[in-house]
Amino acid sequence: MAAAFPSTRLRRTRTHDWSRRLHRETTLSPADLIWPLFVIEGEGQEQPVASLPGVSRWSVDLLVERVGEAIDLGIPCVALFPNTPAQLRSETAEEAWNPDNLLCRAVRAIRERYGDAIGVICDVALDPYTSHGQDGLLDENNYVANDATIDALVKQSLNQAAAGADVIAPSDMMDGRVGAIRQALEEAGHTNVQIMSYAAKFASAFYGPFRDAVGTGGRLKGDKRTYQLDPGNSDEAMREIALDIAEGADSVMVKPGLAYLDIIRMARDRFDVPIFAYQVSGEYALIEAGVAAGIGEREALVMEKLIAFKRAGCAGILTYHAPLAARVLAG
Ligand code: PBG
Repeated sequence: MAAAFPSTRLRRTRTHDWSRRLHRETTLSPADLIWPLFVIEGEGQEQPVASLPGVSRWSVDLLVERVGEAIDLGIPCVALFPNTPAQLRSETAEEAWNPDNLLCRAVRAIRERYGDAIGVICDVALDPYTSHGQDGLLDENNYVANDATIDALVKQSLNQAAAGADVIAPSDMMDGRVGAIRQALEEAGHTNVQIMSYAAKFASAFYGPFRDAVGTGGRLKGDKRTYQLDPGNSDEAMREIALDIAEGADSVMVKPGLAYLDIIRMARDRFDVPIFAYQVSGEYALIEAGVAAGIGEREALVMEKLIAFKRAGCAGILTYHAPLAARVLAG
């Protein structure tokens, strides 16, 4: 006799909230979040970033307060990005290895105030320091020169590690930089400084507001397509990740986030290494624009996007919505 009912009722376990919670496959916790923060010179300064509503650049004294907030919210780690004063940017980016540069002062201030209660990630790439806004050094044809750039990135990394960075995060996409940085860190005795490599970083249209925030937007001539990945390529993304792991990366990043969830899943299925996603500035701005346009409720939109990263296989997510999400999770 044919059953008079559906033989499987998947709705049964969805009936009550307790059951939905019990059957939830993927969960998000504040410990999954990394909060990117922008730093400026001065004291008592908060400068809102026009293209990132709700995000500001902070002078070091106020940045330290934000980091305290992160600790209180259970966010384990922040990622710092300096907005270097114009007069300190140059063709050759020397400010990147000045031990007293803005970023190093920020790292030291966080260390002094909180010890190792929170992790500090420092981005490695020359764009906050170059007058032309590219991540590397230009040769005579204005091509970003790989090997010369690596020498500079190594100096930048050692400078950040000496200031107290816990994690060096190369976002420059030069070939061979993870190995070179790892070797230099080992030789300098920074054996426990991690490398989280931006292994699969795509040449994306979603970085615009970030470039405003760090002050490279108006400077950048051309694009970054000679070093960042083509958005059509996933096999090549896997090769990038495999190389960075072989060179000594402790964890890898996929960036941007939501448009590249397939890359996260592919990487998760292939590699036994923690994978992080960067929900980048343009993604944040789109959510905020959507909220302003009345398409949905901010918290719901944010949490749904963040759980997608976990479901795709991420160990954690860099997101400007980190404090909001942590507050939601705290209930
Ligand atoms: C710099 C860097 C970029 C981002 C992080 N590190 C921008 C770029 O490559 O142009 C983007 C982050 C974001 O958009 O939120 N190398």
